[in-house]
Amino acid sequence: MDRLIVGGPVATMAPGGARYGLIEDGAVAHRDGRITFVGRRADLPAALADIPPTDVGGRLVTPGLVDCHTHVVFGGNRAAEFEMRLEGASYEEVARAGGGILSTMRATRAADEATLLEAALWRVDALIGEGVTTMEVKSGYGLNIADEIKMLRVARRIAEERPVRIVTSWLAAHALPPEYDERARYIEEVVLAGLDRAHSEGLVDAVDAFCEGIAFSSDDVAGVFDRALSLGLPVKLHAEQLSHAGGAALAARYGALSADHLEFIDEADAAAMARAGTVAVLLPGACYTLRQAEKPNVAALRSAGVRMAVATDCNPGSSPLTSLLLALNMAATLFRLTPEEALVGATRHAAAALGLGDEIGTLEVGKCADIAVWNVTAPAELVYRIGFNPLDTRLFAGHPG
Ligand code: NIG
Ligand code: FE
Repeated sequence: MDRLIVGGPVATMAPGGARYGLIEDGAVAHRDGRITFVGRRADLPAALADIPPTDVGGRLVTPGLVDCHTHVVFGGNRAAEFEMRLEGASYEEVARAGGGILSTMRATRAADEATLLEAALWRVDALIGEGVTTMEVKSGYGLNIADEIKMLRVARRIAEERPVRIVTSWLAAHALPPEYDERARYIEEVVLAGLDRAHSEGLVDAVDAFCEGIAFSSDDVAGVFDRALSLGLPVKLHAEQLSHAGGAALAARYGALSADHLEFIDEADAAAMARAGTVAVLLPGACYTLRQAEKPNVAALRSAGVRMAVATDCNPGSSPLTSLLLALNMAATLFRLTPEEALVGATRHAAAALGLGDEIGTLEVGKCADIAVWNVTAPAELVYRIGFNPLDTRLFAGHPG
């Protein structure tokens, strides 16, 4: 049965038309979880015009939001490290002292699946409550095969427990665990062997790594990406976050879906990403939390024509953020994205960063009926407010919830 939404502005977020793809007095119809009509209410075909509609009373209709970079599955928290950093230690100093990712690794290894799931759902519920209908979830705090796989099982369970689409990433190349002193051996025995196994269990949608002085070099990452491509899996990368380590160029060379963070990219990196179609995922929550002076070179990305996405990077260390709306505000105020760029970044471009550009991210005929209705009248209001959640209704695959 068709369902019909009318009575408000519709920001389709589709390219090529008005800003935000905005249709004043729009209409959206959907059936069996797919969109069957988007346009002006006045242009509704006769067959749809007879359906008793849901009238949104002037509220704004948008695609469901997409959080394309999260680490929501983890054990414990890092409040103590937050205190250390405020007393003067840097993120890298904390990491080198065995804190940071390794402290979350210990807590994640110690937690069973049920505990990890319960903790993750608190964070997921906060995102769902803001209209998120698709989110990416990474491994990367197990750092051995069993615990990395445990994390991705929990990630898959989220989609059974809640009305949300989950896309997983294998991030075993996140940090070197204490039982290894050689990166090459860790990559062979855990990152690659574990990837084969997790992939054979259907747990992996993409492969990620952390390319950084405190993590893995671009040569290390190239070996991981080779295996990913040989398994037919797309790649993405934590790149150029704390230094210029060559990650963005490497990501582009491998045709990565996205390169994420990018505080240290240069113009050549932006040009390479544009040629490869690699999306730049900007993570202002991490920049803010680490009080980082360097910001991604948005002007270079923009002028090269790189698509920019915005995500929470929800994780216990560098971005304990469970609000995608706040990330949008930060992207505008800290990184100078326009409100339209920010919102495109949490819809259309975020979908592209997950390889789901044909399925979600805009309101267009044939795409999933993932829809958010907001208690505002203009799209820019979703970006300019701080700490305010105007979600009215959320549909996931056509179903309220
Ligand atoms: O995206 N950069 C590396 N990984 C995470 C941080 C992980 C952590 O500190 O626990 C990030 O910022
Ligand atoms: Fe991250």
